[in-house]
Amino acid sequence: MPSNSAAQASLPRHVAIIMDGNGRWARKRGLPRSAGHVAGVESVREVVRTAVHIGLANLTLYAFSTENWKRPLIEVNHLMALFRGYFRKDVRELRDMNVRMRIIGNRARAANDILSMIEEGESLTADNTGLNLAFAFDYGAQEEIVAAARKFAEAVKQGKMEPDSITVESFSQQLQTDGMPDPDFVIRTSGERRISNFLLFQSAYSEFLFIETMWPDFGRAEFLAALEHFAGRERRFGSVATEAVA
Ligand code: IPE
Ligand code: IPE
Ligand code: MG
Repeated sequence: MPSNSAAQASLPRHVAIIMDGNGRWARKRGLPRSAGHVAGVESVREVVRTAVHIGLANLTLYAFSTENWKRPLIEVNHLMALFRGYFRKDVRELRDMNVRMRIIGNRARAANDILSMIEEGESLTADNTGLNLAFAFDYGAQEEIVAAARKFAEAVKQGKMEPDSITVESFSQQLQTDGMPDPDFVIRTSGERRISNFLLFQSAYSEFLFIETMWPDFGRAEFLAALEHFAGRERRFGSVATEAVA
């Protein structure tokens, strides 16, 4: 249950997080990068629990990008092992917290056993009505946008639709985030100030917060502090502030 209704009123409807800095967190401690990823999974748990506790409606976590396949095989394999562990162990807790989970991303490249776990998790939580939790896993926004464009091109070619009927709305519905509102708030940890192929179409009017904290150090307190930043933002969507209307 939300802890307080004033905080609830200024909550974003959809928070998306670029969880970055696991490797640097580990290096600073003289540990292998893999130790940073292990610690990063704990942050995922804490952030999801916090999101549930405050009554957030939608949360998207960037877990693995289409470009992350370029990393050394040993690191990719370790990350895949962590995803297996997470989906194996945590899906029940998600179900019990009334979380509805899904994956956005390319489902064609991941190992079959991971895909089955994902599908099981999605069906186990499909009827839940609390937090909508999306993991961006083998996700790349450019690939997502091109796939949507290709679908429209195919439909036009087959005479099933006119090019004019393609709108921002119908285009959004072909993206993998269909059913979720666009993210109001995108947070990136680790001090990098870039979007790294995340939700390019959907973040047209998102508020961004870039913070220095490395992902494994991002927990409940940092998440709540970030949400306070959001509450102080003035959003205009291309218009003018209401008091400025003459
Ligand atoms: C984020 O941490 C985790 C993934 C991208 C999977 P990084 O592994 O990118 O950590 P840094 O950026 O190298 O510190
Ligand atoms: C973005 O982080 C992807 C994820 C957090 C999953 P990266 O560490 O891969 O991004 P770059 O390479 O610094 O842009
Ligand atoms: Mg990184």
